[in-house]
Amino acid sequence: MKIALFSSKPYDEKYFNRENKFNHQITYFSAHLNTQTLSLAKGYEAICVFVNDKITREMIANLAKNGTKYIALRCAGFNNIDIKACEEFQIKVCRVPAYSPYAVAEHTVALMLTLNRRIYRAYNRVKEGNFALDGLLGFDVHGKTVGIIGTGKIGECYAKIMHGFGTRLLFFDPFENPKCQELGKYTDLDTLFKESDIISLHCPLRPETHHLINDESIAKMKNKVMILNTSRGALIDTKALIKGLKGATIGSVGLDVYEEEAELFFEDCSDTIIQDDDFMRLTTFPNVIITGHQAFFTSTALSNIAETTLQNLDDLEYDRLCLNLVE
Ligand code: NAI
Repeated sequence: MKIALFSSKPYDEKYFNRENKFNHQITYFSAHLNTQTLSLAKGYEAICVFVNDKITREMIANLAKNGTKYIALRCAGFNNIDIKACEEFQIKVCRVPAYSPYAVAEHTVALMLTLNRRIYRAYNRVKEGNFALDGLLGFDVHGKTVGIIGTGKIGECYAKIMHGFGTRLLFFDPFENPKCQELGKYTDLDTLFKESDIISLHCPLRPETHHLINDESIAKMKNKVMILNTSRGALIDTKALIKGLKGATIGSVGLDVYEEEAELFFEDCSDTIIQDDDFMRLTTFPNVIITGHQAFFTSTALSNIAETTLQNLDDLEYDRLCLNLVE
């Protein structure tokens, strides 16, 4: 199959070439897929895209006209694609529902511990010969209440790790996961907001979860709450988050995703003037750390992503049952 892989990075090329036992013909384009680059997809049966390639109805109509039959997402979330339009234009969409829930859960823990013990400050201080401890005070995670919103694959992994820390776990998810039921208690969102010392988001971005963390929900939270988001940026209303940080209701924030990340993440913007004032404001808080959507970024996950994506396309090409179709 001829595949056009967009938003390609050197590591994508390395892992996709390594896992390509199917002899698919892959062309790598570093450009994002958008209205300007759409013409590059002409003649490719499949296109392969990532989290920040936003594919609109108009683009889908154009892709279908130019012979594209399949869109392979090399990620789990599919909020960036108009799925209804794909159905209408008979383009099949597949994804990689799980490539390493451990990678994302472990990164969430990394953010939590780094924030709590201010490792980023300590690292720089020690390099400068400053061994003062002021400003580095943390809390024992043991015994704290952790609220987990979304208890699917990643939420469950994170819950298991946090259970090992000796925390009390509260969960919110419309579908209860029996493995999590054993570790803590399902509750309503309001109780989770009121009682949690740490809140971690692991649910998908959907209309009903858009800006789940907003002025109203922040007002219900415990003073000095820690908020972690390794799921999708728009689960949080950034302006409300900034307000909560300025008012000191929120104690600390760890983000791997950001509402407007498509303009920034995965690129080296170090020599440009970043125009996003909310993002720049977030970076000024001493109690906020941001990583650029790297929670998934382990060698295990990259292998799994490449292998599953190529297998998905092979199944579709030979009309076999593809378990990872988005419907
Ligand atoms: P999953 O599909 O296994 O679990 C999602 C859970 O969220 C399900 O249990 C579902 O019932 C629940 N959910 C749905 N609506 C909800 C709501 N309104 N409130 C609370 N829970 C709700 O997905 P998985 O693999 O655990 O991934 C979770 C999210 O993590 C993905 O949607 C994706 O956005 C994000 N992600 C981030 C990565 C990163 O590198 N930062 C990498 C991979 C995924």
